[in-house]
Amino acid sequence: LFGITCERVLSYFILLSSTQVMEEDKPCALISELWSEHTYLKELSDLLKQNFHTISYREFLQNPALHAPKIQAIFMWAPSSAAEPSLLRSLPSLKVIANGGVGVDHLDLPFIASLGVKVTNTPGVVSNATADIGMGLLLASARKIVQVAVDPKTNNLSSNLMGFEVTGSTLGIIGMGHIGYKIAQRGKGFEMKILYYNRSRSDEDERAVGATYCENMDDLLRRSDFVMLAVNLTPETTGLIGQRELSLMKPTATLVNVSRGLVVDQDALVKALQSGTIHAAALDVTHPEPLPRDHPLLGLPNVLITPHVGTDTYQTTRRMVEVVVENAQAALNGLPIPNEVKSQ
Ligand SMILES: *[C@@H]1O[C@H](CO)[C@@H](O)[C@H](O)[C@H]1NC(C)=O
Ligand SMILES: *[C@@H]1O[C@H](CO)[C@@H](O)[C@H](O)[C@H]1NC(C)=O
Ligand SMILES: *[C@@H]1O[C@H](CO)[C@@H](O)[C@H](O)[C@H]1NC(C)=O
Ligand SMILES: *[C@@H]1O[C@H](CO)[C@@H](O)[C@H](O)[C@H]1NC(C)=O
Repeated sequence: LFGITCERVLSYFILLSSTQVMEEDKPCALISELWSEHTYLKELSDLLKQNFHTISYREFLQNPALHAPKIQAIFMWAPSSAAEPSLLRSLPSLKVIANGGVGVDHLDLPFIASLGVKVTNTPGVVSNATADIGMGLLLASARKIVQVAVDPKTNNLSSNLMGFEVTGSTLGIIGMGHIGYKIAQRGKGFEMKILYYNRSRSDEDERAVGATYCENMDDLLRRSDFVMLAVNLTPETTGLIGQRELSLMKPTATLVNVSRGLVVDQDALVKALQSGTIHAAALDVTHPEPLPRDHPLLGLPNVLITPHVGTDTYQTTRRMVEVVVENAQAALNGLPIPNEVKSQ
C-alpha cells in the first residue's frame, strides 16, 4: 500500500514538474485585445492560455524591451496597432500573425512576408454566423422589425412602417464565396430568385440553390430587390458600390452589407438613401468602426446598422479561437498551416 501511495506521490510530483516545464515551454503570444471583462470571452482566453503564454498588448506596452524578444505569435481579432510595421519590426522571434476572422485588409501582407512572418485567418468557420446576420439584417430591414418593435403606437402604426415582402423577391449576391453561398442557401429557403456576381460556381452549386450567374454587375443591380455584399476588401472591390451603382438599383431596393467598409462609397450611400434613390440599407459594418455618433448614416430612418457582429455567436467565436490556435501552432512547428494567407 505504501508503495502504491509512494508511486502516486511520485507521479503527482512528475506531473507537477512537467506542467511547470510545459508552462515555461509555451510559446509567447501577444494578444491584440483584452477579453477579461466578459465571462465567455474570458473562457476563450483561457483556451489560448492552455497553449500559449499570453501577453496582452497593454502589458507589452508597459515593458516592450522585456517582452519583444520572446514573442513568437500575435493573435488579432480586429484592426489593431499591434500590426504597426514599427512594432512588428521590433519582434525578432515573431513567426505568425494569427487572425480571428477572414478579412486581413488591416495587415500589410507584403511587408509582413518580407519579415518571414506568416499570416493566417479563419475562413469557413465564420460563414454560418455571418450569413445568418446578413439574412437577419435583410429581414429586419425589409419588415422594419427594429422600428416596429420600439414604436409605442402599437394599434396605430404609421404606414411608413409597412414592409416589403421577402418571400419570392430577388436577391443579388455580390461575392459568392463561402459566406455568399451560405446566404444563397438561406435565400432559397425564402423562395428568393438568386442572382450572383463575380465568383462563378459549378452548375451543381448553382442548381442546389437556384442561383443564376450575372456576367455583369449592373444587370444584377438593376434586377435585385435586395443586394447583398459579401466580397473581401481588395483594391478591386474598394468603392465597388458608388453613386453610379446605387443609381442603377430599384428605388425599392435595399443594400445589405456584411463585407467590409470601403466596399461602399458611404457618402454616395448617404445621398442615395436621403434622396430615395434606393429604399434602405442594412449594414453590419461601417467605415470607420465605430461610426462617429454624429455621422449622417446614423440619423437616417431607413438604415439599420449593427456594429460588426457577424461572427458574434458562442459557437462561432469558440471555433474561431480554436482555429486561430491550430493555425498558430502549425506555423510555429513548421507544419502545413490550415489557413495561411499568402501575400500575392
Ligand atoms: C454550418 O452549419 C451547418 C449546419 O449546422 C454545419 O453542418 C456546417 O458544418 C457549418 N459550417 C461551418 C463551416 O461551420
Ligand atoms: C393614428 O395616428 C395618426 C397619425 O399619427 C393620428 O392622426 C390618428 O389620430 C391616430 N389614430 C388613433 C385612433 O389614435
Ligand atoms: C471579378 O473576378 C475577377 C477574376 O476572378 C477579379 O479579378 C475581379 O477583381 C473581380 N471583381 C470583383 C468586383 O469582385
Ligand atoms: C459594409 O460593411 C463593412 C463590414 O461589414 C463595413 O466595414 C463597411 O464600411 C460597410 N460599408 C458601408 C457603406 O456601410
